[in-house]
Amino acid sequence: MEKILSRNFDEKEPLDLSGFRDKGGYASLNKILGRPRNELIQEVKDSGLRGCGGAGFPTGVKWSFLAKDAPHPIYLVINLDESEPGSCKDREILYRDPHTIIEGVIASGYVLGADKAFVFVRGEYRIGAEKLEKAVNEARDAGYLGKNILGSGYSLDIDVHLSAGRYICGEETALLNALEGRRGNPRSKPPFPIVSGLWGKPTIVNNVETVSHVPYILTKGPEWFKGQGVNGGAGTHIYQVSGCVKNPGTFELPMGVTARELIFEHAGGMLEGRELVAFQPGGTSTPLMLPEHLDIPLTWDGPSTVGSRLGTGGLIVMDDSICPIDFLINVVTFYAMESCGFCTPCRDGLPYLVHVLKKFEEGTATSKDFDLVSELCDTIYPSTHCAHAPGAVMPVQGAIQQFKHIFEEHIQMKHCKYKGGL
Ligand code: NAI
Repeated sequence: MEKILSRNFDEKEPLDLSGFRDKGGYASLNKILGRPRNELIQEVKDSGLRGCGGAGFPTGVKWSFLAKDAPHPIYLVINLDESEPGSCKDREILYRDPHTIIEGVIASGYVLGADKAFVFVRGEYRIGAEKLEKAVNEARDAGYLGKNILGSGYSLDIDVHLSAGRYICGEETALLNALEGRRGNPRSKPPFPIVSGLWGKPTIVNNVETVSHVPYILTKGPEWFKGQGVNGGAGTHIYQVSGCVKNPGTFELPMGVTARELIFEHAGGMLEGRELVAFQPGGTSTPLMLPEHLDIPLTWDGPSTVGSRLGTGGLIVMDDSICPIDFLINVVTFYAMESCGFCTPCRDGLPYLVHVLKKFEEGTATSKDFDLVSELCDTIYPSTHCAHAPGAVMPVQGAIQQFKHIFEEHIQMKHCKYKGGL
């Protein structure tokens, strides 16, 4: 398979402008700038590209929602606030090949007629943000950014913004608030950002991997892009594998590989003498999948056939030394800590859910606590302003069906038999 976004990842240092150009970088812009925008949006639609931040919303469809008479300025905001535990693909692009991001932003900005682009970088990726800033300056000096890019009449500049550091700022409307200097709480949708976003102006928010694919789609064609996928997937995706495997890492592979291939071929398989018990396909907010799901293609639609989601494609692998309840405590504790506190079910419900789950580990839970976990999840899930709390409880809702016997075992044995850890 041809590596696309990760083609320069093996370089010792990220390529500077001349190194990037030597490898064909920025050549796409001469072919894209000046072409009719509606034709380009159609090509993105036809390619099957979907939002790589985790939602998988069809990119070309989203872009076509931008009204033809949308008032200017139009903003393009790149979400690089990758904070989902288990996800680290955006980080790789940022640290290893920042010019790829810039080329994607310029191509996407042109298609959308954006006047200004912002790249919102996770606070902990400070060094990556510095690398990107340096690359932006190089690109600007060479005429790829600024007024009248390559003589095309199109002008765009990029601002790199380092987040103050909060998980919820990755939610697109919280991100917009943070960018405006407000508290990073999510806004109500609708209106969607594409209608009223940054400072009330039309704003397209896209994940960094998503826009990085765009120059390739628009130069090699939508059919080429589709052909890079397998099992119904389109293009490639930078999958990530962490947890109880021999060789955790990031792997750019055809969209649609199976978890079996990812875990056992690319990530080296399970640790010696251990057995696979479950995996989350796309970060901690995605419901668990089981060994019987290993052959389901990891496309935007595959995991949903068994009640999960592809999410970011960051697999977290759990083996038979890990207590599933302990694992869930870890997950929900994270979301409880990161709650913005706006909604009571999230602010107070998640810590309470952690408290009840801990009773199983401590050996004090009864069957009433099992029912309580279920009730709590059902109450929290539909009652909050944004998707933060639903993301926290979905893995628990799945697990109380998949691992009911383990909850019962904890109740009967009055302790946790797992030692835990890698
Ligand atoms: P969403 O499905 O609500 O929206 C997806 C995108 O489509 C958004 O940009 C939205 O504005 C746009 N959209 C949807 N319907 C629209 C309409 N009718 N008109 C105009 N635009 C429309 O999903 P959301 O909340 O953006 O993302 C949720 C996903 O984020 C989860 O599935 C989760 O896996 C992922 N996630 C990723 C994290 C990361 O670190 N990468 C962290 C946490 C969650």
